[in-house]
Amino acid sequence: MARTVTITDNKTGKQLECPVSEGTYGPPVINTKSLYKELGMFTFDPGYATTASCRSAITYLDGEKGILLHRGYPIEQLAQNSTFLEVVYLLIHGELPTRQQMDEWDHSIKMHMMTHEHISRFYSAYRYDAHPMSIMAGVSSAIASYYHDRTDIKDPANRLITARRVVAKMPNVASKCYRYASGLPFVYPDNSRSYVENFMYMTFSWPTEDYEPSAVAVRALDLLFILHADHEQNASTSTVRLAGSSEANPFACVAAGITTLWGKSHGGANEAVIRMLEEIGTPANVRKYVDRAKDRKDSFRLMGFGHRVYKKYDPRAKIIREACHALLAEMNLNQPLFEIAMELERIALEDEYFIKRKLYPNVDFYSGLIYQALRIPASMFTVMFALARSAGWIAQWMELMEDKDFRIGRPRQLYIGEQSRDYVPMGER
Ligand code: ACO
Repeated sequence: MARTVTITDNKTGKQLECPVSEGTYGPPVINTKSLYKELGMFTFDPGYATTASCRSAITYLDGEKGILLHRGYPIEQLAQNSTFLEVVYLLIHGELPTRQQMDEWDHSIKMHMMTHEHISRFYSAYRYDAHPMSIMAGVSSAIASYYHDRTDIKDPANRLITARRVVAKMPNVASKCYRYASGLPFVYPDNSRSYVENFMYMTFSWPTEDYEPSAVAVRALDLLFILHADHEQNASTSTVRLAGSSEANPFACVAAGITTLWGKSHGGANEAVIRMLEEIGTPANVRKYVDRAKDRKDSFRLMGFGHRVYKKYDPRAKIIREACHALLAEMNLNQPLFEIAMELERIALEDEYFIKRKLYPNVDFYSGLIYQALRIPASMFTVMFALARSAGWIAQWMELMEDKDFRIGRPRQLYIGEQSRDYVPMGER
């Protein structure tokens, strides 16, 4: 017998039997689609903590067990064996590519890496000290105008071309955010380089010198990109889906995702972690800051700690922590902030406050330290995140466009404002 959940209104006695759907993994969902029609009610779930907003076959995460799968493949295996560009292929196409498919994919991404020359002029409208995330969102939105009439979002082949454009152009867009702020000339992509290396070349090369990033640095960045590529229906991905549901231009949807990611409760946390560690200054000060984080009267929170879904160590944080250790050892770097981070983690994980609330380091806790070791400035951290996550956003957007239940996203509300009242002329108020 099909599983159902019965909702009873104890005021009217009316009942509604709601069908329950089971996914491959994760809690079953109660289908409340006919709730309003039958009982005249909405559901109320601030922060959507218990709302499944869509069906998805891309990413699964189990916050209680600390599991993260992309298209069924555990993140640990992808991190160890794959490359970012292969993971992006997997997210978008659903399967790992054959050698030939991978070569074609790699080639087609390279062929789309350039942006229209006029795009470069958008940057100069920003103040010299504009935050790169602001520039990135603006320029991504501007790119929408270059493909707007030619993008038929109802056509699967067109959607795939759009996905390629997004994946290919984001390193170019992101690198120019950095170059503009640094007063450096823009650099065209070099098709002889891999995706990540090309990004580093466009971002960090010097016009007067040859540029060869170290293999260790390329590998570290590739790993970080893999770990940031997608993460289920988080705030920025849900924003991209909501924007996409109105049939907006996909580049504009990505711009909406970038804007949401910027906040310090989301992708902006990686930058905030570094600022926090700098403020803490020394391992001896850690306890003081942990105490501040526990104090309800103090607005200070441990950045890079806690997660809406993970109630165990974030599996991405575990991988990044090890990678950070390895990178610092390999580069022979003495990174005082890493010492502070480890002390902070040690003290917090032994503290009753954090244990009770299941607050563990998240992906952002150690990622900034790797970026810093690679000499990437803190204001660029969230841009790096956005660059990697744009792959997940576009995969999720493609899935949305194919959804048989596709319709504009339109949440409702519990209205708590004034009752209807008559306008009072200004002189009588
Ligand atoms: N430091 C101190 N206390 C915390 C922290 C923290 N970082 N995070 C949560 N708490 C406490 C809350 O005060 C609350 O305590 P209470 O039960 O006594 O009221 C409890 O833990 C639950 O926290 P919520 O805010 O309800 O959790 P929510 O799921 O809404 O928020 C979030 C999750 C935004 C990630 C939060 O943990 C946070 O602000 N962390 C710091 C910012 C951060 O690292 N963001 C990156 C997230 S990962 C990502 O987006 C890539």
